[in-house]
Amino acid sequence: MNKANPVDPFVVLKGEHELLFGVLDSLECCIATVDRGADPRDLRRFVEFLRGFLSAWHWPKEDDILFRALASSGFPANSGPLAVLDEDHREIERLLTKAAAYTANGGPAGGDALRFTLRVLRSLDALLRYHLEMEETVLFETAARELPETKIAELGEAMQVFLDDARGSFRYHSLRRMADRLQADFLPANRRRVALAGCAAASL
Ligand SMILES: [Fe+2]
Ligand SMILES: [Fe+2]
Repeated sequence: MNKANPVDPFVVLKGEHELLFGVLDSLECCIATVDRGADPRDLRRFVEFLRGFLSAWHWPKEDDILFRALASSGFPANSGPLAVLDEDHREIERLLTKAAAYTANGGPAGGDALRFTLRVLRSLDALLRYHLEMEETVLFETAARELPETKIAELGEAMQVFLDDARGSFRYHSLRRMADRLQADFLPANRRRVALAGCAAASL
């Protein structure tokens, strides 16, 4: 940990959002190809990446570091943006659990099962995009404006500890490979590829 020069916590989180937006662009591309008759097995790869990235990499920095710091600084935890965003995390998790069930064992064969699978994944895509935008335009901006500099520096130090612990881990490299492959395999036209290594470039 570099206490003298901690990472900017909002840069770290926005970098991870950029990766998520890139993967969601690829998910939409995959959904469109499956809707036109392509093999639905690739849908499972997106579910596995999103579950792993959110639960093991992104949400710990929000739930355990940023949200907790805001609540302890007087932001209401049971109403307003923190409560809404916390509920979003749970709803996204529920949709991912459904999507995982639908895409298990080779994925939906067709018919109603495929239709419901694509509907769940489109709902997941829409909710996650809304959630990321709301965090950036409401929560992060408010936190950056309202929290004292010392508190923001503490957040950066806590995120740096998380990143230092994760650096070199199998989990980190596995998630990076998954994101790279998904975006390489389903790269929508005129979208640039976003690498996990670039998510937290200030610290990784
Ligand atoms: Fe979030
Ligand atoms: Fe987020």
